[in-house]
Amino acid sequence: MISLKNDKEIQKIREAGHIVFLAHEAVKEAIKPGITTKELDEIAENLIISHGAVPSCKGYPEGSSNPFPATCCISVNDEIIHGIPSDRILKDGDLVSVDIVADKDGYFADAARSYIVGKNEKAKKLIQITEGCFWEALKLAKVGKRISDMSHAIQEYAEKNGYGVVKEFQGHGVGFAMHEDPGVPNFGKPGRGPRLEQGMVLAIEPMINEGSPEIEELDDGWTIVTEDGKLSAHYENTIVITKSGPIILTLN
Ligand code: MF3
Ligand code: CO
Repeated sequence: MISLKNDKEIQKIREAGHIVFLAHEAVKEAIKPGITTKELDEIAENLIISHGAVPSCKGYPEGSSNPFPATCCISVNDEIIHGIPSDRILKDGDLVSVDIVADKDGYFADAARSYIVGKNEKAKKLIQITEGCFWEALKLAKVGKRISDMSHAIQEYAEKNGYGVVKEFQGHGVGFAMHEDPGVPNFGKPGRGPRLEQGMVLAIEPMINEGSPEIEELDDGWTIVTEDGKLSAHYENTIVITKSGPIILTLN
């Protein structure tokens, strides 16, 4: 079931989105050679808690024997998503993807960013195209369009630039929970799936590989990596569909 959100509810999700944004800004500021991914995670966690919100990934899913143990998913280089913050020390040239979900008073927002530690031209191009995939999808985030119109735009933009689209994970509805209907795939033919309606809140999140789209899961039960060991980038925002176009809830 797809839940539509009213203006008051959207305002609450925006509050959560603002806190997610602030957490990303704090992490971005701290990223430099020598810092560990666990230290970055602590910065985001403190920011979220100090704003009266909850880091939604920590302990997720409830009741699991192997819940996610941290606030942020931090995925380095060939890690695509769901990397676990650790004592790993970041070094010049690393590509770092940070995914943060927070809920405030029961309203959830979700966003991811990829950064480069210092310089890495290959990573820079990959991140640009991954962000571009999101913006291509956003052009189609209009009342009356269908979910897979956005999916198709993402795939086309990535593949035309020579990159691989991760297909096993996808965007999703968000707002009253971390994951809601509908799924928002990053690939597919246009003209399929539910029609976009005013009040739909969606996390759109292309995960794009430098090389092959194939993935593997590590033994930690969380970390997803590229099969070929090449780089991967991730970019995600929570948006709301309105009559006058999409509004991004995690960009400020
Ligand atoms: N941002 C991720 C998503 O889009 C959050 C999942 S991480 C988990 O689904 F640890 F919470 F599972
Ligand atoms: Co998400």
